[in-house]
Amino acid sequence: MISIHDLPTPALLLDLDVLEANLRRMKERTAALGVALRPHVKTHKCLEVAERQRASGVAGITVSTLYEARVFADHGFDDLTWAFPVIFSRLPEVRKLAERVTLRLVVDSPEAVTALEGLGNFRRLRRPLHVWLKVDCGYHRAGVDPESPAALELARRLAGSSSLHFDGILTHSGHAYHGPTRAEVAAAAEQERSVMAGFADRLRQEGIAVPGVSVGSTPAMAVVERLDGVTEARPGNYCFHDFAQVALGTCGVRDCAVTVLASVVSHRPGEDRSVVDAGALALSKDPGPERPERPTMGEVFADYEAGVLEEEARLVALSQEHGILSAPRPVGSRVRILPNHSCLTAAQFDEYAVVRGEEIVDRWRIWRGR
Ligand SMILES: Cc1ncc(COP(=O)(O)O)c(C=O)c1O
Repeated sequence: MISIHDLPTPALLLDLDVLEANLRRMKERTAALGVALRPHVKTHKCLEVAERQRASGVAGITVSTLYEARVFADHGFDDLTWAFPVIFSRLPEVRKLAERVTLRLVVDSPEAVTALEGLGNFRRLRRPLHVWLKVDCGYHRAGVDPESPAALELARRLAGSSSLHFDGILTHSGHAYHGPTRAEVAAAAEQERSVMAGFADRLRQEGIAVPGVSVGSTPAMAVVERLDGVTEARPGNYCFHDFAQVALGTCGVRDCAVTVLASVVSHRPGEDRSVVDAGALALSKDPGPERPERPTMGEVFADYEAGVLEEEARLVALSQEHGILSAPRPVGSRVRILPNHSCLTAAQFDEYAVVRGEEIVDRWRIWRGR
């Protein structure tokens, strides 16, 4: 048996039992809420994880880059939503990809619609180019304002397009991460649902058919009580969770599947801190939960199996390869770190060491790229 104690550090560990439980729970949850599940694979960027999601019966997948789209298309995933505003300089790649898989794009501007229509008449192809209208449900990052005349105008234009296939309206409740409490997450989730259902109703009253209503973030999906008016959800982070979710109260420590194994590489006698080999290029610089009274760049396990974190020892500063641990530890000892943001952490590594207990049972590639 190869054990995690044999691993060179820093290493990214993926707990298979926790992963499988997380996948099962979200599948059951979306089924109970009456919506299709289209997981965002940007969290794991991993074929083996996506295959497990597919085996449990998902509607298709969501990607964040065209590189992800290409990799997953090359491995048999043939229904992909690229949930990112269209990048004009990548349209030749879009066109090629849309010839071999069902590709769904997201737009929130008339310029993007014009650019897509300029690609030619996809309706004549075996697979039309599908387009979602991106809506701002309160996160204020991207998307049309659903109250605005421009939103109505754009929906009408998409629904009437002779070359594009209108899939409906799509949003992402990223503001659910602002919490700070579970009650506020629940309010953001209900806002997402009601804004989207209300906008879909308004479009239908205007005579515009809205086939789909797509929502989704992991915190919102963890707490939402109903999804009437919604057809699909696109959570990503739920497969791994992380300390940000723990701090929001949307999962427990034992629901976190991804950890970073690091070694203590420096400690000066008498000092109350040590240096580990997990810096920003292992953990990312995501500042995690908004808790000014206890800032953290990564939590340290006191007991992994029991799901207990250290009270005092945590990562308090990161440079490129160095992590500053707020506790004295012997050089050569190891720590297991719960990252603030598992998506960004996974994106720093080339592979997962897949573990059951302390045994490494597999290694899975992380397909990073743009
Ligand atoms: C457009 C879009 N949809 C879905 C998601 C998934 O959100 P989460 O990782 O919270 O589940 C994201 C994440 O950033 C996103 O940007």
